[in-house]
Amino acid sequence: MKALVLAGGKGTRLRPLTYTLPKQLVPVANRPIIHYVMDQIARCGVKDVGVIIAPETGEQIKESLRQNPWGLSFTFILQDEPKGLAHAVIVARDFLGDDPFLMYLGDNLVGETLEGFLEEFRATGPDASILLKEVEDPRMFGVAVVDGQGRVIRLVEKPKDPPSNLALVGVYLFSPAIHEAISEIKPSWRGELEITDAIQRLLEKGREVRCSILGGWWLDTGKKDDLLEANRVVLDELVRRRVEGSVDSESKVLGRVVLEEGARVERSTVRGPVVIGRDAVIRDAFVGPYTSIGRGCHLQRVAIEHSVVLDGARLLGIERIEDSVIGKNALVESRSLNSKALRLMIGDDAEVLI
Ligand code: TTP
Repeated sequence: MKALVLAGGKGTRLRPLTYTLPKQLVPVANRPIIHYVMDQIARCGVKDVGVIIAPETGEQIKESLRQNPWGLSFTFILQDEPKGLAHAVIVARDFLGDDPFLMYLGDNLVGETLEGFLEEFRATGPDASILLKEVEDPRMFGVAVVDGQGRVIRLVEKPKDPPSNLALVGVYLFSPAIHEAISEIKPSWRGELEITDAIQRLLEKGREVRCSILGGWWLDTGKKDDLLEANRVVLDELVRRRVEGSVDSESKVLGRVVLEEGARVERSTVRGPVVIGRDAVIRDAFVGPYTSIGRGCHLQRVAIEHSVVLDGARLLGIERIEDSVIGKNALVESRSLNSKALRLMIGDDAEVLI
């Protein structure tokens, strides 16, 4: 069994952040999303991992995986243009050979281990197995119709009138039969070779496609609000209190807070779940629940909650910031009295003076 992680694509929906940072490296609780993906793959015991990269962002992806605490064996595979998920499989054909493989979208987070999903696949030996999640509004997703025995009957991409509420999570298992199915499909109306079309093609050829329904959470970090939600859920589930930085006697650090080494909290309140990166300074400030502050950030006379602040950003003199994503080294500074809450999506190096 091999794994194929898709870390190419354009990430248009997360602009401006993704002008400078690939979507898979956007931090959730101060760790790049793709690191959670590798956690999952390593836990399943898969070692050989192909990583699809784009020409513009490939080097950053490689750099972020260089330390490799998982002990995985990475093969980086360049996809010249984002021509679709099935196109990525074609590009990876040499790496995949005739092995079965786990395909994982590099911007998806799944709150449950995948061992059961793999075991089922090994035990039942279908040509594909897809992970599904019940969602309230399936119209934005690929949707599956299933029978009562774990078999998939039909797939529809972004249906206006959904035949079920089971959406395709970005995690798939394939036998080598998928390659032939991919060679038989045509690009969709958006010009991409769609993996759902290839799976539908397997069904038309009478091949068996099975499914597992995910009980835990699933987060696709495509847009700002999804990213904030992912940050909230991961902080809620994974953060344990660890205070290694300094807290002065006039400050309170309450609940599940990670304060990394070299970070300083002065005359401030931090209410978890919160992570604050190395060498950040929090002064005369309130950092509220569900907030991630990157390394070397500087927050002064600010109240912030439910936000993601990337490394080196400075937030100075803002009465209230909420539901915001602030890019690397950005500066937001207020020089006047302003009582309104700000809701921002700010790219790297931006400056906002109010
Ligand atoms: P998407 O979110 O469907 O596409 P995108 O990254 O281009 O984003 P946007 O819609 O905001 O422009 O992609 C899902 C994942 O698969 C993501 O991690 C990027 C990756 N991907 C590839 O590696 N190659 C591709 O050809 C495509 C379409 C996506």
